[in-house]
Amino acid sequence: MPDVDVKKTLANYAAAVERHLETCLEGRDIAPRLAEAMRYSLLAGGKRLRPVLCMVWAEIAGTPAQAVVPFAAGIECIHTYSLIHDDLPAMDNDDLRRGKPTSHKVFGEATAILAGDALLTEAFSLMLGVTEVPAERVLQATAVLAYGAGPSGMVGGQQVDMELTGRAGVDLRDLQRMHSLKTGALITASCLAGCILGGGGEQDMQNAMEYGKHLGMAFQIADDILDVVGDQQELGKPVGSDQDQGKNTYPSLVGLEQSRIMAVQCAVQANRALQGYRGPQVDFLGHLAAYVVERTN
Ligand code: IPE
Ligand code: IPE
Ligand code: MG
Ligand code: MG
Ligand code: MG
Repeated sequence: MPDVDVKKTLANYAAAVERHLETCLEGRDIAPRLAEAMRYSLLAGGKRLRPVLCMVWAEIAGTPAQAVVPFAAGIECIHTYSLIHDDLPAMDNDDLRRGKPTSHKVFGEATAILAGDALLTEAFSLMLGVTEVPAERVLQATAVLAYGAGPSGMVGGQQVDMELTGRAGVDLRDLQRMHSLKTGALITASCLAGCILGGGGEQDMQNAMEYGKHLGMAFQIADDILDVVGDQQELGKPVGSDQDQGKNTYPSLVGLEQSRIMAVQCAVQANRALQGYRGPQVDFLGHLAAYVVERTN
């Protein structure tokens, strides 16, 4: 596979999303404190992985990434909302996110909850606002996001996370299910939605889902590992939070070394879904899978 500068390519795609996020709330009639809280979390940085996956899969399916930028920005709004709510005292009770005090620390719990609600609903306006691809594809892709973000996906996974917190006797199957829902579902939906928007066929959609599913697992296992061995400054969020909260994680269940091995295995599986594709976008996704495991933030 040709060499790819993953960080640079990721940043290039992310820049288009960033521009869209910066302007999407401008000139709107929004209660100032709510708008401030939405922008505070949304524009605090972040890897923009999920929107980038959507853009890259759209390109693989044959449509320029530029055409799906508003949709990708919507995905990032959903992700950012999930982070605001994830950090709340009633959930993970964390004080630092994206290198800044968490939303509820700055704005109070009520506004943090509402900023999350607002980003979630705003996301659907953004996604349905895509005009450069046929409307039926936009509808189908939006439905995919609704499913992946909702009770059968990310929110369901967060519920499992809450129920498993502090519990003894959790096994690998429980963890797998939790991770694939709370993190894998949104990542999978991002890949699939991009593929649909781009005009991919049935087989492409299968491959996009397969790639996303395994990449999502690799991503969350790496997240668990970073919570143990990461650097707070670099991560932009607390280290040791999982242990403090009594979370069941891969490192707590199988140890760091085995967790690393399992993350690599997931990345390898993700890349199997790319066999049969050629081109710079596919090379990027291939290297991205390895990067997700080795990342330090
Ligand atoms: C953090 O996601 C939450 C997880 C699902 C692990 P990211 O690691 O993608 O966070 P940002 O968007 O880069 O801040
Ligand atoms: C987050 O998992 C999953 C979400 C859906 C937000 P974590 O709780 O481990 O994510 P971080 O470590 O706080 O980013
Ligand atoms: Mg959590
Ligand atoms: Mg958390
Ligand atoms: Mg974590």
